Amino acid sequence: MLAGAIFALSLTGLPVYGQSASSSAASSSVASSSVATSSAASAASSGATSSSVAGSTNTEATALTFSLTVTNPTAIPLASITANETSLATIPLPSTATPGATNTFLSGAPALPNPTSIVSSNYPTLDKVPPTDSDEVQQWIAEVAASGISIPHITQTVLGGCPANAEAAADTSRCWWSCTGCVRDTDVQECPTKLTWGLTYDDGPSFYTPNLLTYLTANDLSATFFTVGSRCAQFPVTLQEEFMAGHQIAVHTWSHPYLTTLTNEQVIAELGWTKKVIKDVTGVTPNMMRPPYGDIDDRVRNISIAMGLTPVMWTRINATATFDTDDFDVHGGLASSYGVLNNWQNIITQANEIDTGFIVLEHDLFEETVQLATGYILPSAMNQSFDIKPVINCLNKPLSDAYIETNDNSTNPPAASGVVTLSSGAPGSASATGAASSSNSGVGLKVSGTSTALTLSGGFAFIALFL
Ligand SMILES: *[C@@H]1O[C@H](CO)[C@@H](O)[C@H](O)[C@H]1NC(C)=O
Ligand SMILES: *[C@@H]1O[C@H](CO)[C@@H](O)[C@H](O)[C@H]1NC(C)=O
Ligand SMILES: *[C@@H]1O[C@H](CO)[C@@H](O)[C@H](O)[C@H]1NC(C)=O
Ligand SMILES: *[C@@H]1O[C@H](CO)[C@@H](O)[C@H](O)[C@H]1NC(C)=O
Ligand SMILES: *[C@@H]1O[C@H](CO)[C@@H](O)[C@H](O)[C@H]1NC(C)=O
Ligand SMILES: [Zn+2]
Repeated sequence: MLAGAIFALSLTGLPVYGQSASSSAASSSVASSSVATSSAASAASSGATSSSVAGSTNTEATALTFSLTVTNPTAIPLASITANETSLATIPLPSTATPGATNTFLSGAPALPNPTSIVSSNYPTLDKVPPTDSDEVQQWIAEVAASGISIPHITQTVLGGCPANAEAAADTSRCWWSCTGCVRDTDVQECPTKLTWGLTYDDGPSFYTPNLLTYLTANDLSATFFTVGSRCAQFPVTLQEEFMAGHQIAVHTWSHPYLTTLTNEQVIAELGWTKKVIKDVTGVTPNMMRPPYGDIDDRVRNISIAMGLTPVMWTRINATATFDTDDFDVHGGLASSYGVLNNWQNIITQANEIDTGFIVLEHDLFEETVQLATGYILPSAMNQSFDIKPVINCLNKPLSDAYIETNDNSTNPPAASGVVTLSSGAPGSASATGAASSSNSGVGLKVSGTSTALTLSGGFAFIALFL
């Protein structure tokens, strides 16, 4: 049984994503003060894309720029929330869901699967981009080709974010969010109602997720968890508990790569396996995704939509005012707890200024991020009287709209529907032609193997429009 083994892993068993520890979500905050800190320098040289946190100056701050009026009485002192924190205080899950149980928060939910059915041999290697030649991925590739959604021929980026991809970053036509903040109508970047917070946590489930779940339940709060498929396979019981407690589960890829650096097929594999493991563990398939590091362009966006996944970003007012706490960077020693709370204070200020509600980037992967959330950020948010809810609810939709099996499609029609016209080919038409693949400037569906349904044919010029 996997779960038993997992809890024996050491902390170092947890991956640190990206090219440097500063990789949090395209967010390594570049110090806007004149002090070029070593972390800012290393973030820049590692090429992590640089959208600064909300009005942030220096996340290595050693003091708060405001006075802290509200905290959790049991909060860990800020001075102790550091990268070198040694306490590994995890608490057991608040409860353990029973296989076969019904989710009382989700109307129409199927019975909860048995988590012992989640065995690693049924999934790709953890924390690696899954191979694209498996039957599963080939099936998803065919479904994308048949979706009627056109996948634009945008070249892959190289690792290193905006600085390493100057031409792509300057090309506004590709709508590369992490470099330009460009969004399409399909993207969710805020909640419509002022002072409403679509609460999200990324990168879990982890050892520390139970601590967060306990706090959320005690305070009658619900969130959206953008989960990493590899973590779902590792912590299926925690994922079940998240799900059964009424939180929204959504996709954050299998191995947490920069999606714009991958081929179409690899993006499909990353999203498909994450959808699958979530479905295997919870019984339902999520229909929202968040790209790691916010790294999405029109190619990745349309692949997501073709796979039934609506992209959810975090609120971005302008290049220097993004609603990113930078909490991820505390564990890597690139941000301090004080800096994170200063960022949060700026977010509060800006949330009060904008006309809409908002979405903030936070993580449940590390002890530090959970301590900051439960000790400080959430108590302060409740004191602000923000209306806190999962993203699906902040969009004024019921939780049942967040999963394919429970969505009646009335208030949340699938992202891929309604955009298919006769002239773009009805769903299924691409595969029905027997020619659903293209090779184009190295980023097309490069299908290995000999499946005739996926072999490039003379219909390329026509078909390519519909990939
Ligand atoms: C732990 O980190 C903090 C700040 O990051 C630093 O001030 C402190 O000296 C470190 N403690 C140890 C024991 O390394
Ligand atoms: C993405 O898909 C939509 C729906 O099919 C389509 O209208 C749009 O043109 C596509 N985007 C690009 C850049 O091709
Ligand atoms: C970005 O937005 C913030 C908050 O509204 C504002 O204070 C700041 O001046 C803006 N910066 C730019 C470059 O527009
Ligand atoms: C926020 O905290 C302050 C200071 O403790 C308190 O006076 C106020 O009543 C709180 N407001 C809410 C809405 O909790
Ligand atoms: C909602 O749309 C999805 C995707 O097109 C489809 O699979 C599902 O059957 C639809 N559900 C209902 C209740 O129509
Ligand atoms: Zn992430």
